[in-house]
Amino acid sequence: MAALRIEGYVIVSADGMLANANRVMPDELRFEGDKRFFSSALDRADLVVHGRHSGEDQPNSPQRKRLVMTRTISAIAPHPSNPKALLWNPGGASFEAACHRIGVDSGTVAIIGGPEVFGMFMDRYDTFWLSEAPRVRLPGGEPCFPGVPAQSPQLILAAHGLTPGPSEVLDVADGVSVTPWRRTAR
Ligand SMILES: NC(=O)c1ccc[n+]([C@@H]2O[C@H](COP(=O)([O-])OP(=O)(O)OC[C@H]3O[C@@H](n4cnc5c(N)ncnc54)[C@H](OP(=O)(O)O)[C@@H]3O)[C@@H](O)[C@H]2O)c1
Repeated sequence: MAALRIEGYVIVSADGMLANANRVMPDELRFEGDKRFFSSALDRADLVVHGRHSGEDQPNSPQRKRLVMTRTISAIAPHPSNPKALLWNPGGASFEAACHRIGVDSGTVAIIGGPEVFGMFMDRYDTFWLSEAPRVRLPGGEPCFPGVPAQSPQLILAAHGLTPGPSEVLDVADGVSVTPWRRTAR
């Protein structure tokens, strides 16, 4: 399905966590520069994909087509409250089928978590945008990918064929940056 570009987005603490021990993304992991980067990226995406406990909660969120992953339905079903969204269970319908059903056969798909969702697409990302908050630690928190913290997020991306490009600083005061990890060869 080369017509679809698959891009991943996450912000992680220095210890590789995307949420705290209560599986909640704390305010410590929210930075204005990263929020701006993330929301303008999602404005350019044709489709957003995430698990039932995630979502970007931005002013433009209601305008975006989205697939919400859940095992509470067998394959693909209408979202109960969001007319721009579908519920999707990958155990019962392929990614291609879900994209087609929501009307996105080409363009950019933004994968925004959580960990199991990121893991499912690990061999398919064209680019994974890894934002890092080096001064935040979330001991006992929720690891960003399956396999963290035994391995770092960077080692896992590299093991799946992705290579880091130049980082961009998003927040000078807190040292937050984003690095594009790109697939160089298929
Ligand atoms: N720092 C960041 O950038 C970032 C990014 C993403 C998320 N977060 C945070 O992480 C927390 C959410 O994490 P979470 O672990 O609860 O993850 P989640 O992926 O949002 O939600 C997990 C749920 O998604 C569904 N799901 C996941 N994988 C599935 C699969 N393979 N097939 C079918 N359904 C699947 C299941 O829903 P059902 O229970 O309905 O079956 C599962 O209970 C939130 O606090 C969120 O804000 C942070």
